[in-house]
Amino acid sequence: MALVPEIAKRLVDQGWDVVVESGAGAAATFTDEAYADAGARIGADAASTTRDAQVIVKVNAPDAREAASYPEGVLVMSFLQAGQSVEALKVLAEKRATAVSFDLLPRISRAQSMDALSSQATVSGYRAGLAAAEHLAKFFPMFMTAAGTVPPAKVLVMGVGVAGLQAIATARRLGAVVSAYDVRAAAKEEAESLGARFVDLGVTAEGAGGYARELTADELAAQQAALAKEVSLSDVVITTAAVPGRKAPILITAAMVDQMGPGAVIIDIAADGGGNCEVTVAGEVVRRNHASVVGLTNPPSGMPTHASFLYSRNVINLLALFSKDGALAPDWADEIVIGTTVLKDGAVANAAAAEALGAPYQPITPPPAATPEEA
Ligand code: NAI
Repeated sequence: MALVPEIAKRLVDQGWDVVVESGAGAAATFTDEAYADAGARIGADAASTTRDAQVIVKVNAPDAREAASYPEGVLVMSFLQAGQSVEALKVLAEKRATAVSFDLLPRISRAQSMDALSSQATVSGYRAGLAAAEHLAKFFPMFMTAAGTVPPAKVLVMGVGVAGLQAIATARRLGAVVSAYDVRAAAKEEAESLGARFVDLGVTAEGAGGYARELTADELAAQQAALAKEVSLSDVVITTAAVPGRKAPILITAAMVDQMGPGAVIIDIAADGGGNCEVTVAGEVVRRNHASVVGLTNPPSGMPTHASFLYSRNVINLLALFSKDGALAPDWADEIVIGTTVLKDGAVANAAAAEALGAPYQPITPPPAATPEEA
């Protein structure tokens, strides 16, 4: 849910007229009454909720049909994944809409309070740790009991970004012995600070903006050979490795799954992007040889209350750069505003989106800075 009642109230206090679709918060435990108490109006259905909107905030992109019902010139803010929302974006472009996407947010310090990629990855990593403990037929912690001593579970986390770090922390809190692996050198210190042993395979792949680059075929083969032993010794492998804008890399081959011990579990939170394991099927638990491979889809949706709590704070913080006192007023000189804008009044302002839409790329040029006298 893109607005929790508390944040709806803050928007109302800022001067916005907030309309919430009836029942939209129900699955995340937020009732229509809570929104009404916050000062929002309740729209009977989606169409009447958005009919007169100047701003529409959502979690995921609308489809083309829904976009067609939006008013002309509206600003839409959500995860848009431009490459996967081409038809909806075409409709929005025709409507001279402005479209703002959280997946394009620059990973800079000033943007952290708006970083929905990070907030939702935090939820995903936590959920992955819990899902692993739930699927494993063993304890996570070591137990010394009168009936005997149980050794702790061995968990390997592959991909130590925001989600991976949270998966490490969650598995550690539950008492597992955790090792971790990433191609970014910076990940070593972060993983170790949470008590994980870092698996150093000598393959590094730093890319632009702090992200990993795609490995070459040779690098990937070397990585997989070196990882096979680590995987075979683990009770649980949690995979979170993503490369922005590309299919998730295969880190665990079917042959590696076959080498895992009885009851082994793989939790693949990259399942929506194709998965980090060759065997992964999104939304399913695949049993192969001794192991179960769990393709977690949209993990934040499994913990909707706090996923919404965090996301709606990201929304109000990003919206602040596009508005003033409850009215639209984007700061077109701000690199975060420029970076997240896919469509500006219908013009495609993002290079990758322009390519996906087959439309001309019209980058946003910041207005000239005011002279001291004007300021
Ligand atoms: P992500 O979701 O794009 O990827 C997850 C992890 O998988 C990354 O750590 C990546 O290095 C790793 N990975 C990719 N390919 C791999 C492969 N072949 N083998 C093993 N690991 C692989 O990453 P996320 O969580 O979005 O973070 C990306 C970067 O942005 C990180 O450096 C993070 O520290 C940084 N960041 C900066 C923020 C800020 O300053 N505002 C906020 C959040 C993240």
